[in-house]
Amino acid sequence: MENDYKSLIAKIDKTKMPTHIAIIMDGNGRWANKHGLKRINGHKAGVKVVREIVETAREAGLKYLTVYAFSTENWGRSKIEVNYLLKLILDSLINEIDDLVENGVNIRFIGTEEHLPPGYDVKVEENCRRSWHNSELYLNVAMNYGGRRELVEAIQSIANKTKQGILQPEEITEQVISDHLYTAGMPDPDLVIRTSGEIRLSNYLIWQSTYSEFWFTDTLWPEFTRAEFIQSILDYQERKRRFGKR
Ligand code: FPP
Repeated sequence: MENDYKSLIAKIDKTKMPTHIAIIMDGNGRWANKHGLKRINGHKAGVKVVREIVETAREAGLKYLTVYAFSTENWGRSKIEVNYLLKLILDSLINEIDDLVENGVNIRFIGTEEHLPPGYDVKVEENCRRSWHNSELYLNVAMNYGGRRELVEAIQSIANKTKQGILQPEEITEQVISDHLYTAGMPDPDLVIRTSGEIRLSNYLIWQSTYSEFWFTDTLWPEFTRAEFIQSILDYQERKRRFGKR
């Protein structure tokens, strides 16, 4: 199995490597159900896979990886599951930060502060900050993230600048909007992966994914493998990207 994915890495055409891959990690609950476990065990199993995929992304020479950990819609789940996810995500960051720092990963959380428990953001930033000198792999964790919420915050910030006369309405361009998103300064995703057989975007990077290629698999996130991840890159390399042109 180990060699399996390494031989696939060797097949990657470095000249056509995607710069940014964004993943919707779906199917933890169904995986748990399938194994007669509680949903929270599905999320726990999912964290192990996040670790493997981050390692593999680094090995493959990927520059940006964004993973959808918790959406603004996820607050609608049971209190037990929400609290478990909040704790699991923060604990995983705290447990992994030393390794991430050592391995050249630059990690940041993208999302809104709204509804997060007091102090949560501070703990996230304290830990992430330790990695901000790194530049091998930029890892974004979309946490309390919603694409529409992101646009609302960007528009509010732009409107404030317009009100103060810092920015004229006619100066608002696509670039200005991109520069006010959580992903400011980062390239848009070239490839968006979603696991578990669902074929939708679910409020993920809605502005940034306009010209992304999409790759779907029926595999549930806890069963997603390094080899499958590399296969998504190989498939991407076969696509013809036209960006609306002929
Ligand atoms: C979707 O499966 C998964 C989530 C909402 C949470 C994903 C979070 C993790 C894997 C933890 C990530 C942690 C870090 C540190 C990045 P689902 O619950 O919607 O599954 P279902 O559709 O089968 O019910």
